[in-house]
Amino acid sequence: MKLLAISGSLREGSLNTMLAQAAMHLAPAGVEAAIATLHGLPLYNEDLRTAGIPAPVAQLEARVREADGVVIVTPEYNYSIPGVLKNALDWLSRLPPPPLAGKPVAIMSASPGMLGGVRAQDHLRQVLFGLDARTLTRPQVIVGSAATRFGPDGRLSDSTTVGLVEELMAALVGAGGKLDALHIEEGRNQRQFVRAVVGGGFR
Ligand SMILES: Cc1cc2nc3c(=O)[nH]c(=O)nc-3n(C[C@H](O)[C@H](O)[C@H](O)COP(=O)(O)O)c2cc1C
Repeated sequence: MKLLAISGSLREGSLNTMLAQAAMHLAPAGVEAAIATLHGLPLYNEDLRTAGIPAPVAQLEARVREADGVVIVTPEYNYSIPGVLKNALDWLSRLPPPPLAGKPVAIMSASPGMLGGVRAQDHLRQVLFGLDARTLTRPQVIVGSAATRFGPDGRLSDSTTVGLVEELMAALVGAGGKLDALHIEEGRNQRQFVRAVVGGGFR
């Protein structure tokens, strides 16, 4: 069982990257947990894609494909997700078959503000719906006043948050274990149904 965490922040000392690291530490025993970086991803450009998938995109794609579950940890920028993260998701959405389609995804956010990035989570959920990811709904991990929840060593120190993150990682592992061909087949059928209803495809 492999989990992959993606932080939507490129910043050294990022609260969201620290939260992503905490999630990987708090994953159930026996899980192989890793973090992928979004550093070096070019801005999405259809010309780049048709000329050949850029190496940093291909590396991210491979890591997402081999993961049984993905954790996306997003900062909130102007009530939404950072462009860096949207850009990565745009790339992933254009790689056939989209590597997040049918994949269990857990989302979390951290902000120094009191609302903890909850508005960014709503936007992220919407984008992941477009990518046909299986986004978990509970527990919601929304870390407000985030700077106060980590110790000087950068480790998550707030016991309530630790408990929620552990619960979410356990749910993700449970969802990853249930991923099977049947679900993927169901997903395809649903997409065909939606196409039929709206009278045409959009991809
Ligand atoms: C462009 C920009 C917009 C921001 N907008 C919001 C916002 O809408 N809500 C919020 O809670 N924090 C906002 N912030 C503050 C971020 O939550 C804060 O910088 C946070 O530390 C970023 O995450 P990181 O520590 O993982 O890099 C914004 C920061 C930047 C740079």
